[in-house]
Amino acid sequence: MTDLPDNPGHDPKPHPPDEHLVGGAGWRPYPATMLGPDTGTVSRPHRPGGDTLVHLDNVYKSFGTLRVLNGVSLEIKRGQTTVIIGPSGTGKSVLIKLIVGLLIPDRGEVFYDGQQVNTMSPKELVGIRKEIGFLFQMSALFDSMDVGQNVEFPLVEHTDMTTAQRDERVDRVLRMVGLSGLQRKWPSTMSGGQKKRVALARAIVLEPRLVMYDEPTTGLDPIRADLINELIIALNTKFGITSIVVTHDMASAAKIADRMLLLYDGNIICDGDPETFLRSENPLVQRFIQGQADQIELESIRQGLGTQEADG
Ligand SMILES: Nc1ncnc2c1ncn2[C@@H]1O[C@H](COP(=O)(O)OP(=O)(O)OP(=O)(O)O)[C@@H](O)[C@H]1O
Ligand SMILES: [Mg+2]
Repeated sequence: MTDLPDNPGHDPKPHPPDEHLVGGAGWRPYPATMLGPDTGTVSRPHRPGGDTLVHLDNVYKSFGTLRVLNGVSLEIKRGQTTVIIGPSGTGKSVLIKLIVGLLIPDRGEVFYDGQQVNTMSPKELVGIRKEIGFLFQMSALFDSMDVGQNVEFPLVEHTDMTTAQRDERVDRVLRMVGLSGLQRKWPSTMSGGQKKRVALARAIVLEPRLVMYDEPTTGLDPIRADLINELIIALNTKFGITSIVVTHDMASAAKIADRMLLLYDGNIICDGDPETFLRSENPLVQRFIQGQADQIELESIRQGLGTQEADG
């Protein structure tokens, strides 16, 4: 993976929006130990990043009467790992799908490496998708293909590599994700964590410049989640892959992020390096970091359960 990109880790399978609980199924609190007790710093130094790789300019996106993104402007720096957090249904997946042209904004512009994505033809989009790996929220593996075929799929679709070259590449990326030799296994027989790693292998098989991870650790136990964190860090630091990670997992965010963004109510309401972000005094940010439910929502649950104080 020392050569950078050629092809897409883009997964062509449609992905329906998930219906998670408020706070997200994969939500994990931000661990206090990540903040140095004396220095007040996070454990990993953040990198400033290079020039702008992705640029969203005043982007709006609605579905029918539901306004999801409300004038989002954002620049993603080359070489950084940018983590996007936010409540369920707030448009995180929508935002990253706009970057790869899987969705088109109603208004505003989206650029990848200086090229305007939102006006590209399907044929032009193939070009940028060769440079962008996408790890879908639910892995989205093809059940009718074994692991090797799943990982090989983008190579078959987008390269003229020989079978031997493809086999070698598949073997290499499976080794990278710790699934060496599992080419002939069927996705339906694998655990959630293994499937995520297969999907990650597929997302990087074309040696992308940018990898977008949609909730890569959701549903995994803390050890397997940390394995994914380490992979994201390694891909970023060893191969210079720019990363955008959507997550509810605050432990993961604190570990991998150079920069953190909170998407809330259609806009980015907090943006900064992890240290600044996690120490933000914005109550919405703190509520999200601590995993505190909204008082109004709690009250409505209490009422639904008939446990208000008045009811005894
Ligand atoms: N293709 C679509 N058609 C209609 N509505 C959609 C579509 N994609 C997303 N939505 C809606 O847009 C809103 C934002 O969805 P999105 O999947 O981006 O949320 P999210 O922030 O990723 O949430 P989660 O944390 O649960 O994954 C949701 O209400 C969702 O139902
Ligand atoms: Mg999502």
